[in-house]
Amino acid sequence: MKIIFHGHSCLELQLKEHTLLIDPFITGNPSAKISKDDIKKCDYIILTHGHGDHYGDTDFLAKKFGATVLATFELAVSVSKKGIKTHELNLGGGFNFPFGRMKLTLAHHSSSTPDGNYAGDPAGVILNVDDKTIYHAGDTSLFDGMKIIGDTHKIDYAFIPIGDNYTMGVDDAVKAAEFLKADIVVPIHYNTFDLIKADAEQFKRKTESIGKKCLILKPGESIEC
Ligand code: NI
Ligand code: MN
Repeated sequence: MKIIFHGHSCLELQLKEHTLLIDPFITGNPSAKISKDDIKKCDYIILTHGHGDHYGDTDFLAKKFGATVLATFELAVSVSKKGIKTHELNLGGGFNFPFGRMKLTLAHHSSSTPDGNYAGDPAGVILNVDDKTIYHAGDTSLFDGMKIIGDTHKIDYAFIPIGDNYTMGVDDAVKAAEFLKADIVVPIHYNTFDLIKADAEQFKRKTESIGKKCLILKPGESIEC
């Protein structure tokens, strides 16, 4: 599989047969190196929550590719009213999709649609795809439930926010890396805007000082795994 980081919290997962986008915030994302028209395939869009910097180009891409949007119940219902295919889940629930298994985890944050309507709870995501386990934390504070996530899933790659202000900052994210016990931790949700400036190299040093591996991806860079 190839995992491409498009900046902020947006990941493109090119699996053997399917392409998934997580939090497709491309238009208006100052760190994105592509435009929404550069996405060539999209079978599923996974939304951690409804905020605009995660919802992004969901409507455009879902309609262009006939993609199915996977999200918590209330957000999925609001997306489905636009004539977009959806699959609703809720926290702690997983489902075996044609691409693999996806489960929603807790995330401590808030959620509303880009136009300000109630969008249920925010979530993190655990994916079991192409023999790898990927965790995308969404927007969240540090919480002790991350220990449970780490104890119950053998995570290969954990994508966690470090930008502070709206989510964990560097020090809390280092603690999260300890809890999650992931093979490799990748920082996201930082340096997109002035409010979430963070030093990824400092995060890497601190993570490595507790014996964890950290990989910094610049927007546009990818992992082959
Ligand atoms: Ni948010
Ligand atoms: Mn956010």
